[in-house]
Amino acid sequence: MAIEVSALPIIAPSILSADFADLGRGIADVERGGAGLIHVDVMDGHFVPNITIGVPVVRSLKRIASRPLDVHLMIEHPDQFVAAFVEAGASMVSVHVEATPHLQRTLSLIRSLGAKAGAVLNPSTPTATLEDVIADLDFVLVMSVNPGFGGQSFIPNSLEKIRRTRRMLNAAGSTAAIEIDGGVDHRNAAEVVAAGATILVAGNAIFGSPDSEQATRALLEAASQGCSGNS
Ligand code: DX5
Ligand code: ZN
Repeated sequence: MAIEVSALPIIAPSILSADFADLGRGIADVERGGAGLIHVDVMDGHFVPNITIGVPVVRSLKRIASRPLDVHLMIEHPDQFVAAFVEAGASMVSVHVEATPHLQRTLSLIRSLGAKAGAVLNPSTPTATLEDVIADLDFVLVMSVNPGFGGQSFIPNSLEKIRRTRRMLNAAGSTAAIEIDGGVDHRNAAEVVAAGATILVAGNAIFGSPDSEQATRALLEAASQGCSGNS
């Protein structure tokens, strides 16, 4: 079942920028602010030049989060780990196009385990790489920074990338959602929604703020301003 594109924008705070010693409080704050998902960035030090967290942390987060966990795998050989992440509590799992030689198999695997399947486009990855797996996708994650770190600047070409991806999905009759990740903040939130994104990941804009509850609420309000222009 695809995530409906007509849904209101969803804010998915990325815990990468949260205080790792106090994730329970961080998640409670953003959930009070209206977060619809909790975005979890898994990095292996190979696919991207950084290391973060793995399955045990996802399992602990599942105990305390009331919103679904959106697990973004920035790892090599994702097929080997998908089942463990779903078993630990991931409701959505996304894999990078370049990380798996058999993308259709990986997406089918995620769905067969009962999670929503997403493919991730790096800034340099053409949208067309997904043309032949559209039917296997519940969502497309468009990276608006090069993956690996929080707090980077939004790459302006990403707006056109969102539009191109939406056109490709629509032409195929797909209602898969578009998630945008990297440098999203209150200044560009309406634009990314107007371009066709419905799930907005934000790390620094939320957890870099002194009040992450209020920052989540403000980002949701800013994103909602883009709805009328949604195409
Ligand atoms: C980057 C991660 C992002 C990151 C976003 O590789 O995938 O989810 O946490 O952080 P900001 O919003 O700070 O760019
Ligand atoms: Zn991410």
